[in-house]
Amino acid sequence: MSTYLVTGASRGIGLEFCRQLRDRGEDVIAVCRASTTALSDLGAEVVDGVDVSDPVGVTSMATRLQGRPIDVLINNAGVLRRDRLGALGSESVDDVLLQFRTNSLGPILVTEALLPNLAEGSKVGIVTSRMGSVADNTSGGYYGYRMSKAAVNIAGVSLARDLAERKIAVALLHPGYVRTDMTGHEGFCDVDEAVSGMLARIGALTMETTGGFWHANGEALAW
Ligand SMILES: NC(=O)c1ccc[n+]([C@@H]2O[C@H](COP(=O)([O-])OP(=O)(O)OC[C@H]3O[C@@H](n4cnc5c(N)ncnc54)[C@H](OP(=O)(O)O)[C@@H]3O)[C@@H](O)[C@H]2O)c1
Repeated sequence: MSTYLVTGASRGIGLEFCRQLRDRGEDVIAVCRASTTALSDLGAEVVDGVDVSDPVGVTSMATRLQGRPIDVLINNAGVLRRDRLGALGSESVDDVLLQFRTNSLGPILVTEALLPNLAEGSKVGIVTSRMGSVADNTSGGYYGYRMSKAAVNIAGVSLARDLAERKIAVALLHPGYVRTDMTGHEGFCDVDEAVSGMLARIGALTMETTGGFWHANGEALAW
């Protein structure tokens, strides 16, 4: 049995990570802003009141978890705001910053705060998006979301380099286009397929492949 910590555990992909890991008999620390019935019903340990974009809240989470070894840290919490050229006014600036704070800074703040809980052989997964891929951007738009995911991609590679000497591997994971609240329940797959794929990628991750960017289906993605 290993200990997994999952952020954004209240619903969607994060909740499904917790469900599949509990079904496997793993020890799960489910981190969220506010718990849900679906999450409580899993019987996982819930650490609530944690906004990943708030350094004070993240530090307090780490204090609560002091001395708890974590084998796999899954930075999943994220937010998407729809914007487009021609409507990037002052309200969108706030939305862009919200996405940066949550999607780009959040995983770094959480990982940094939990560094004492990670040991040689621990792994860090960051749920990013192919929408942060420059090579894949053939349709434009989504300025804030794309920028925030491109930023977390480069931050994830820095983490991989910085954690290599401690033999902690880092993976950047695209779940696919998944039916959740974020997509208005449109998409190409359901959370069970996306999460089982990402767990397989984390399982296969090694120090030789650290810093890679993969689709849940195993395809290596271009930056
Ligand atoms: N669905 C897709 O097709 C897709 C594709 C590519 C990447 N992704 C990525 O996959 C991850 C999960 O997305 P999803 O589809 O499951 O979205 P979702 O259904 O909207 O769930 C988002 C989760 O993130 C949490 N969250 C948002 N902001 C947070 C914050 N500041 N602090 C703590 N938790 C926060 C939410 O908590 P609350 O309940 O408190 O709001 C919720 O648990 C995200 O990083 C997303 O960018 C999704």
